Amino acid sequence: MRLVENSEQTVKLSCRNVWKVYGKKPDYYFDTSGYDIKPVELADRMRKDGAIPAAANVSFDVHVGEIFVVMGLSGSGKSTVVRCLSRLVEPTHGQILLDGEDLLKKTPAELIDIRRHKMGMVFQSFGLLPHLTVAENIAFPLKLQGLGSSERRERAARVIELVGLKGRESSFPRQLSGGQQQRVGIARSLAVEPELWFLDEPFSALDPLIRRQMQDEFLRIQQVLKKSIVFITHDFLEALRIADRMMIMRDGMVVQIGTPAELIVNPADDYVAEFTADVPLVRVLQAGDVMRPSDGDTSTLPQVASTTTVEDILSELAKHSSGLAVSDGGHVVGIVTPQSVIAALAHEAEARHTVAENNQETYA
Ligand SMILES: Nc1ncnc2c1ncn2[C@@H]1O[C@H](COP(=O)(O)OP(=O)(O)OP(=O)(O)O)[C@@H](O)[C@H]1O
Ligand SMILES: [Mg+2]
Repeated sequence: MRLVENSEQTVKLSCRNVWKVYGKKPDYYFDTSGYDIKPVELADRMRKDGAIPAAANVSFDVHVGEIFVVMGLSGSGKSTVVRCLSRLVEPTHGQILLDGEDLLKKTPAELIDIRRHKMGMVFQSFGLLPHLTVAENIAFPLKLQGLGSSERRERAARVIELVGLKGRESSFPRQLSGGQQQRVGIARSLAVEPELWFLDEPFSALDPLIRRQMQDEFLRIQQVLKKSIVFITHDFLEALRIADRMMIMRDGMVVQIGTPAELIVNPADDYVAEFTADVPLVRVLQAGDVMRPSDGDTSTLPQVASTTTVEDILSELAKHSSGLAVSDGGHVVGIVTPQSVIAALAHEAEARHTVAENNQETYA
């Protein structure tokens, strides 16, 4: 698997060793300095005491302009972690750095200001105000921001256009379909022009077809706005479509962080492999992964970009059995043929199984 490294990525938000412990005396576990106990053992001890380590030593960075996806089974701590990022849930321990500044040291007033101006949130249950129209729902947080009425109207109109709700401004939520209601939720959170956008399973209440449409729209919006995004989902195929990087959680802890391709080809353990098991390799592997060096003249062959997925080149390949030239930055870097694709698929499929088995032993 070929991975594109970008060394110029700036960190927008950093979550460092964050714990959220529910129980009688959550702070008790962090009072004692000087004893050395592994996070996993500390979490076990909390559970034995009857406390719930909903987030246990969670660390990750979100880069400027990236979509960072959080996945894990129900109860693994996804919502808890994402709520800690805005302090909707107060972390018991750890650090949240926004543009390098510790969010946990902010006063309540500063925090409200940061949330209102820098953060947008979208939840699975759309959370619209039933007695307000679409336009009023969307403009509502702008009023809290203290914007004047003409600016509120203008901004609301802009995001209504962006999410494709033009013409429905005066409808009430009950008159809209689920997909339309979630568009309102999305527009409302975007109206404040947040730098950070948190989405907690925003599409999971929608049926598959609408869901796919909403994912496309979400990606289109992100191409325009380039927010720094944390997105929770249960659905690996959804993650595969939208994630730049993703994090898998289990029992409050981070199991693995990586690109979807890294997780698929190199899962940390069986738990991760289970999530990725149903993903067709043709959707993950790209022309650059399945090419071989070209030794002859490639000028007569049709060209594909090295980042095109195998899924997208299969039909071309069926028509041109002599192969396709693979280009990267305008230069031909190799050739894909039916044989090179089959060989690469067979190799990756085998690697996927053995990697999960071997990693299982290493991480155990
Ligand atoms: N207010 C609370 N009091 C006590 N326990 C809580 C509280 N909120 C969450 N928990 C517990 O923390 C754990 C993590 O919950 P969380 O909602 O973060 O999971 P999740 O991964 O978002 O699950 P889902 O996929 O079902 O939304 C669960 O065991 C949950 O019961
Ligand atoms: Mg949740």
